[in-house]
This record gives sequence, structure tokens and C-alpha cells, in this order.
Amino acid sequence: MRELQQRFSVSPVTVQRVVRQLVMEGRAVTRPGDGTFITRPAIADAGAVDHSWQTVVLGRSPVVPGGLEHLTHERTSGTIALDNAFPEPTLQAHELLAKATARCVRRTDAWDRCPPQGIPLLREVFAAELGAPFTAADVLITPGAQAALDSIFRVLARPGDPVVLEDPCYPGAVVAATLSGLVPTPVPTDDHGVLPDALADVLARTGARLVVLQPRHANPTGSVLSTERRAAVRAIAQEFGCFVVEDDWVRDLDLDGPTGPPLIADDQHGHVISIRSLSKASAPGMRIAAVTARGPALARLVSARLAADFFAAPLLQATAAELLMAPGWQRHLLTLRAALAERRDTLVHALAEHAPSLSATAPRGGVALWVHLPVGVDEAALAIECAGRGVRVAVGSTYELTASGAGHLRLAYGKDDPTTLVTAAERIGAALRSLT
Ligand SMILES: Cc1ncc(COP(=O)(O)O)c(C=O)c1O
Repeated sequence: MRELQQRFSVSPVTVQRVVRQLVMEGRAVTRPGDGTFITRPAIADAGAVDHSWQTVVLGRSPVVPGGLEHLTHERTSGTIALDNAFPEPTLQAHELLAKATARCVRRTDAWDRCPPQGIPLLREVFAAELGAPFTAADVLITPGAQAALDSIFRVLARPGDPVVLEDPCYPGAVVAATLSGLVPTPVPTDDHGVLPDALADVLARTGARLVVLQPRHANPTGSVLSTERRAAVRAIAQEFGCFVVEDDWVRDLDLDGPTGPPLIADDQHGHVISIRSLSKASAPGMRIAAVTARGPALARLVSARLAADFFAAPLLQATAAELLMAPGWQRHLLTLRAALAERRDTLVHALAEHAPSLSATAPRGGVALWVHLPVGVDEAALAIECAGRGVRVAVGSTYELTASGAGHLRLAYGKDDPTTLVTAAERIGAALRSLT
């Protein structure tokens, strides 16, 4: 106290008053018998926290910001969310999942450790879907298709390697590849999937050994790889000695009859690695997918699982097995497909009526329409106009690796009932008219 009086030339009363004030503000603490001590600087509010040092330490982020958030959470309520590809909750398999979980939750093995490759029963169920010669030994369980892509990019290529992706492409694949240090390399596609000649050219030019395709209802275009091209892709994979990763993200959602077996069904020598997702047909929280692969590639992917998270949660794996074996699963799929087909057709017709300058062909399956904009209409400006009218849409450039210059929207139809989809089409038409 005396030192403070001398240093600031003030009376003892002033020092006492200031100390009382500091104690009240939490900046000092008085311990009777010991004296008065300065406390650690108080964190008054988030504004006082300084994280700016992290920017310097971390440098440029390898993660592309934005683009994927809409897949994981709802941004605002009260709008028509045509940028959300998950079917609405009433179309999800909640009842079946509740029953399956109730059966599994009391089993001790649902809480125990399990092999990194996944529980045998679920692997058997997935292998049985493919039929001979595939067995449970060829299947690896991952927490979703996204995790499968991430593991594949990490362990089947090295940082700096090119990875061939269809253009336009699912942004989640681009983000995961980039984060693994790979160089996304576009290959063009049309209504029948990847262009085989272009694929061969890209492989010859870049030496890439990893190709990711979505042969069934590609996201975002909805294209289905034609039978002739399937054979061509297989031949190219053999000729160039590369892996073709088949992202079968909507395996259960053929809406106009079967589009055929997965690409891996005809692959003998382990060139195709097939990812089968469950999330779109069951529920977004069903974070389980199957990867089918053979040879050293499979062994590496199993090791990657160990390094990432040991194994996917056994309770969820057991639940997925129960779900897929339940008699109600096929019934659920029939109902879901019928609902999605109705919504798809409603949206296509409503757009033809209310926004005739747009062109969209109904995809044979999946969850979204790929819409071509008239020449001269800016897709970002249109998306803003739509948002102003309460409709969220995904713009085509989000999916492009090479800027095409052509405008597109991706409109998901699973989230809203047919009446709401008609309203959305009316508003999109009004937004277009305001621009043109
Ligand atoms: C083409 C594509 N692949 C993979 C995924 C990820 O699927 P999952 O939910 O199984 O992780 C998505 C998600 O929307 C997707 O669109």
C-alpha cells in the first residue's frame, strides 16, 4: 500500500478506495492476513478473446469454406429448402430404425469393441446384396460414404497426386480430395455419364491412378452411366492400371425401375471400389456405408479405419443390419421411391408451367433436378432473387471444377410436399421474370 501511495503520490484513503473498486470489478482479490493480489485477466466477453495468433500459425486453410454445410444442418426455417437433398423426416425410416435400435441397444456386443472392418453380420448383408463372388471378407463398414471417400483419398494416393473427378461433381468429394493433398482433375460428362475417350485422355495426360465416378444418378446431373460406357470404363481401368471409385450414393433410389447392378458387379480384378451409402434412403443420421474392395487396397482401407476411429459405432452397425433385414425395409423403399417420383414429376411439370425458359429433364432416380438456365441469366443473381422469395436453391457453379459459363440450378425435391414444390416453382418463375 505504501509503495502505491509513494509511486502515485496519493493518500492511503485513495489507495484503499481504488483497491476496493478493483476487488469489486474482480481484478484484485484480498486475502486477509496475506494481502491483496492481482487476479488473472478476466475474460469478460467473447469480444475480448484474441484468436488472431492462430491465423498466423495455421496459414492458408486446406479446407474450402462453405459448400457442404447445407448437407449437415438446416440454415433457416420458414424457407423452401430446395438445396437440401435429404428427403423430409416423414419419408425417412424412423419407425424401422426405432424398432431396430430397440432390439440392438441391449446387446452387449453393441457396446463392445469390434473388428475395424465392421461387424460380420452387416458385412454379410451388404455382400449378399452384391451376390457371388463377393463375401463379407470384401466389405468394410465406414461411418458414411463421406468417410469412405476421405479414407480412399488418404490411403490410395499420395499428396500431390491427381484424382480424376467428374465435372460437375459432388463438392464433398472435391473437399475431401483437396484436404488429402490430392489435385482434383476434371473429366467431362454428359447425360450418359463420363465420356470414356476423355477419361482415357486425362489418365494418359496426368498419370492419375484414382478416378471417382457416380454411375447411378450422379450428383448433381442425375446422369446414369450407360451400359456401353460401363464396359469402356472397365477396359480403361485395366489398360491404365487405375482404381475406379464407384460412389453409389443413392443405390436404393432408382425411381423409374432398376438402372442395373453397381459397376463393381462386373469387375474381376479389384479395379472398382464401390461405396454404398444408406443415408439418403434411411435417415441422415444413419452414418453407415459399405465399401467393397479387394486385395491390398482393402487392407489399406481397413488400416485407415483403425487410424481414423478404430471402427464405426457397433450399435449403429447392428441397427443397420437389422434395418436391412427387416421385412419393412423393402416396403419403406417402395413408399419412398413413389413419394420421390411424385415430387420429381410435380416439380418438373410445375417448372414447365411457371418457369418455361428453364430446361430440366426428369432424372431416373435420386433426389434432385439439374436445371439449365437460359443464356444470359446469372445463376447467382437468380439464387438471390429466389432467396428473397423464400426459396433456397443450389447454384451450378458449386459443383463445377471448370467454370462452364453456363448457368445451372440443382433443385432437390425430397424435402417438400408436392404443393410446396408447386409454390417453389411459381416463385422461381417470378424470380426469373424479375431478372429477364
Ligand atoms: C454423391 C455423394 N456421395 C457421397 C455422399 C455422402 O453420403 P453419406 O451420407 O453416406 O456420407 C453424398 C451426400 O450427399 C453425395 O451426394
